[in-house]
Amino acid sequence: MCGITGCIIGQGNVAKILFNSLKRLEYRGYDSAGVSTIYQGKLIVKKDAGKIDEIHSRLDLLDLPGNIGIAHTRWATHGAPSQVNAHPHTDCTGSIAVVHNGVLENFMELKQELEARKHVFRSKTDTEVIPHLIEEYVKMGRGLAEAVLEACRKLRGSYAIAVIFTGEPDKIVLARNESPLVIGLAKGMNLTASDAAALIEHTNKVVFLENGDMAIVTSNGFKIIRIDTGVPVERKITELSWTLEMATKGGYPHYMLKEIFDQPNVLREALRIQERYLDLLTEFLDRGREVFLIASGTSYNACLVGSYMFSKLARLSTYPVIASEFIENYGSSIGVDTVILAVSQSGETADVLTSIDYARYRAATIIGITNVLGSTLTRIARAYVLQNAGPEIGVAATKTFTSQLMVLALLALRLARKRGKVSQYEVDEFQDELRRIPELVEKTLKISNDPVKNLAREVARFSSMFFLGRGISNATALEARLKIMELSYIPCIAYPAGESKHGPISVVEDGYPVFFIAPNDDARKHLIGNIMEMKARGAKIFCVGAEGDEEIKQLSDWYLGLPSTHPLLSPIVYVVPFQLLAYYAAIERGYDPDKPRNLAKSVTVL
Ligand code: G6P
Repeated sequence: MCGITGCIIGQGNVAKILFNSLKRLEYRGYDSAGVSTIYQGKLIVKKDAGKIDEIHSRLDLLDLPGNIGIAHTRWATHGAPSQVNAHPHTDCTGSIAVVHNGVLENFMELKQELEARKHVFRSKTDTEVIPHLIEEYVKMGRGLAEAVLEACRKLRGSYAIAVIFTGEPDKIVLARNESPLVIGLAKGMNLTASDAAALIEHTNKVVFLENGDMAIVTSNGFKIIRIDTGVPVERKITELSWTLEMATKGGYPHYMLKEIFDQPNVLREALRIQERYLDLLTEFLDRGREVFLIASGTSYNACLVGSYMFSKLARLSTYPVIASEFIENYGSSIGVDTVILAVSQSGETADVLTSIDYARYRAATIIGITNVLGSTLTRIARAYVLQNAGPEIGVAATKTFTSQLMVLALLALRLARKRGKVSQYEVDEFQDELRRIPELVEKTLKISNDPVKNLAREVARFSSMFFLGRGISNATALEARLKIMELSYIPCIAYPAGESKHGPISVVEDGYPVFFIAPNDDARKHLIGNIMEMKARGAKIFCVGAEGDEEIKQLSDWYLGLPSTHPLLSPIVYVVPFQLLAYYAAIERGYDPDKPRNLAKSVTVL
């Protein structure tokens, strides 16, 4: 996730407006930034790695003359955070500048074609193909708008772009596919940005672009055209009543809720992860004599899910280990044949880094999954995959958990194909289901929000509760427990449902709340037995199960039915109502869900 913005003003300079907008968008990414304006027929570009204020103190981003400009704050996905990889990107002639938010799937092919036609690339980004493509069409005599239209027709993947060209300094051309983009209409000027947060101080009149829209924005008007047909369309002007704070959170009251609802898009981005990185990790996983999955907190729960995926789909046994226990438990036995897959959203968790550092000196192979390019994990690992989830601001991990699961599923799928130990049919079926996941999560959010919000009133009064699941849902139960406990501060217990009779069941008395995670998988028939055990002791049964599972519904005091999916993917769908429950329970109890007490987003001490 990156933030883009642009402004064109009848009279005066746009530098200050762009700088303020960038600051508002900084929460969308902050590893590098840049601004470009047109002044006296020339493009001026200032960009660098670092946070916006740091770059400003080095380059003075306010010292950029010109009444038209675009700007970008970056969260790296292709190419490390560096000066050359920072946006805006320009063409060979230095007359076209582009800022982009999204991931282009076919940039490699396009880049090769363009290089064969003598275009010179400076960065390692996917974005740079866009100015070069536009340059091609401009050279053929097309106007800027037409050139952008043609270029967009060649792009596959997600994008929100803003383009300026010295040959037509009276307009900014925008285009959107799956990444957000808004136009802001103000007096004497018009603006654009990834979200309304960057616009709200100038105007509350906005136009939300839709997928497949291209827009031509001048200082006193705008026009929208469909990219596929070239036909103009009308889009309504919306008057926002949002405060600045609400706008930064996309209209949601907290970042956590925004991030929960961002998940369908985040999962779509995860599906676009470049295959060559997945292939590389798969290669290492396949080579190991033993494979450890190391992580902390929510990322550990993701590893637990991953261990079921690797085993069931790729027939690879892996050992999920809590990072702070790894050295004590396995340190002495690891060696050159050991492969360690470290999973860390931040890539900076001290427990994880210490473990992999230790393992590295014992010649183990370290590979990683992280959300932060340039983090220590990306520097230590032999190879890594980026989650593409964008920065997560809520301390409790939500969208980064489901995107980790998506990456693990993609790896398990590739490993399954490579090892060929399960049937082609099974592997294909898994792949089809994986592609449906963003849509299923979207549906789940719709189904769950209201019933869960109501339930949170009751849950907020509990003094303790159980979360039980069997098989892969054991990991979902652990994550549900972690979310609810860390945000509502209610002590909770999660256990494999089958193990609950070996101890925890003694806690149960009349009315004690027990949550079951009950997808329609092989573990279901035994889970019913566990529900019966709890019911027999007077427990109040809350179940999240499959839509249409009348048997479990009848056994439950509260039931939420979710869309069916592949059993190995159920945690991605089933965790969603529990994320919502954690959020709403915290609100009910009067706590700040974005900043739970005593916790930190990234824990850099042992
Ligand atoms: C902290 C955070 C958790 C997170 C854990 C691991 O405890 O509060 O939300 O799951 O660290 O973080 P990582 O960045 O390594 O995934």
